[in-house]
Parts: sequence; structure tokens; C-alpha cells
Amino acid sequence: MDNSHSGFDPRVVVITGGSKGIGRTVAHAFAAEKARIVLVHYDPDDAACDETLKSLTEKGIEAEAHRVDVSSFRDVNTLFENIFSRFKRIDVLINNAGITRDTLLMRMTEQDWDAVLAVNLKSVFNCTQAVIRAMIRQKGGRMVNIASVVGQTGNPGQANYAASKAGIMGFTKTVAKEVAGRGITVNAVAPGFVDTEMTAVLPEKVKQGFLSQIPIGRMGTPEEVADAVYWLCSPGAGYVTGQVIHVNGGLFM
Ligand SMILES: NC(=O)c1ccc[n+]([C@@H]2O[C@H](COP(=O)([O-])OP(=O)(O)OC[C@H]3O[C@@H](n4cnc5c(N)ncnc54)[C@H](O)[C@@H]3O)[C@@H](O)[C@H]2O)c1
Repeated sequence: MDNSHSGFDPRVVVITGGSKGIGRTVAHAFAAEKARIVLVHYDPDDAACDETLKSLTEKGIEAEAHRVDVSSFRDVNTLFENIFSRFKRIDVLINNAGITRDTLLMRMTEQDWDAVLAVNLKSVFNCTQAVIRAMIRQKGGRMVNIASVVGQTGNPGQANYAASKAGIMGFTKTVAKEVAGRGITVNAVAPGFVDTEMTAVLPEKVKQGFLSQIPIGRMGTPEEVADAVYWLCSPGAGYVTGQVIHVNGGLFM
């Protein structure tokens, strides 16, 4: 059980990849409890992030955003130093930033491999390590890492992406064991096929191929993923750690 939080101060929640898609929706889930929210993104411009910030501040939420490449160990450490000096604590870390560079292994370049592993997996190491000591000092915290169903099933054209997401699952379980006695839970959420910009670019044939394999018969919504993430950070999930929660319409059981 996370016993670090007094229940009086709003929680400080850091969400990587928080400018749009699933990350933005997770931010809105935390807005309901009036959390203090820090968004991290690396979009080419601030347009989407500004929109997210505006919608949060309109709800009376204290929110800020940073454009930082989470695959950079140095930049992530500078970012978290800034967050700590401002808020003095971090209660929740959501490692959600992710990219794809899909192509069959035969054609995959070293750059395709390195970029996806760096943004999707090394970033999780960078951010988790940057907060872990503070959470131990606080005697509690919650971390949720966004994996993917393909980390479990594999998917042609996504050797880099699937490897990064399988890596997140192993990392999650290991860190969960390392800090379980410190009041910190570490879990992963593995979405299936969710309606965001990431999937909007897929060819119609690929989309139909996915849809035909989903027992529930439709794509998931970012809200359905955010609900699972938020629950893992709620008091009711205090005895849940090291788990991979699948939110995929039955695509993988
Ligand atoms: N959409 C899906 O169907 C789906 C399925 C399974 C898993 N996921 C995972 O969910 C997460 C969010 O996906 P989404 O669909 O919302 O994606 P999205 O493309 O809508 O948003 C991605 C976010 O990650 C950020 N980002 C990318 N590279 C970054 C970097 N180097 N540093 C910091 N931030 C960076 C972007 O700025 C953006 O905020 C990803 O980890 C993705 O792999 C998505």
C-alpha cells in the first residue's frame, strides 16, 4: 500500500508522451482528482501540448509541460531535477512516450531499431531511475508503464516495437520486485489496437486485419486505457504490483 500520501496535497503526476493520444487522456483522468500534472512530450511543435494544457487549466488544474526527449539520459535527469525543485515530490510516474518505425526485419535499418528501443525502452529506464530514490524517501509511489499487446504476441513488421514492449514487461516485473517493500507499485498496461494518431496512419487493410481478430469487434478508446492506468494508481490497487494489465478487446487472452 502506498502510504506516502497525506491525502491533503494534490498528487504530483508526471506523464511522458502527455501531449496527445493515450497520455493526454490519462492526464484528464488525473484531472478529476485535481492532481498537479507535468506533461512531457517531443512533438515537433507545441500545438497539441498547448491544447492539452489549455483543457487542463480550464478545469482549474495546475499543469505544466516540457518538451524533452525521454531517450536522453542527461536531459531526463535535468528535467526531473527541475520537477523536484518545484514540487518537492513525485507521486505518480506514467511512462507512456512511444514511437513506431514499422517495417519487416529484412528491411529494418539500424536506425529504425535504435530509435524505437531508445524512445520506448531506454526512456523507461531513464525516467524510472530518475524518480526511484525520491519515491523510496517518500515511502511510496505509483508507476505505470505503457507496453503493448504485441510485446506478448509479436507482430510482423514490428520486431523493434515488439522487442521494446516485451522489454518493458520484464523491466516492470523486476523493478516491482526491487521496490515492493518500499510502498511503491510498478505495473504495465498493454493496450491492443487503440484509436490515436499512432494507429490513424495505418493502411486500411492493416486496420481491417486487426479488427477481424478482436473479439469485441472494435478499436479501443484512449479512455478505456486511461481508466486502467488510473485504477492502478488508486488506493484500491495497493496490492497489485508487477502485473501486465491487458486492455485489448480480447485480441490476446
Ligand atoms: N495507439 C495504440 O493502438 C497503442 C497500442 C498499444 C500501445 N500503445 C502505446 O501507448 C503509448 C501512447 O501511444 P499513443 O497512441 O497515444 O501515441 P501518440 O503518437 O498519439 O503520442 C505519442 C506521445 O509520445 C511522445 N513522444 C514520442 N517520442 C518522444 C520522445 N523521444 N520523448 C518524449 N516524448 C516522446 C509524443 O510527443 C506524444 O506525446 C505509446 O507507448 C504506444 O506505444 C499505443
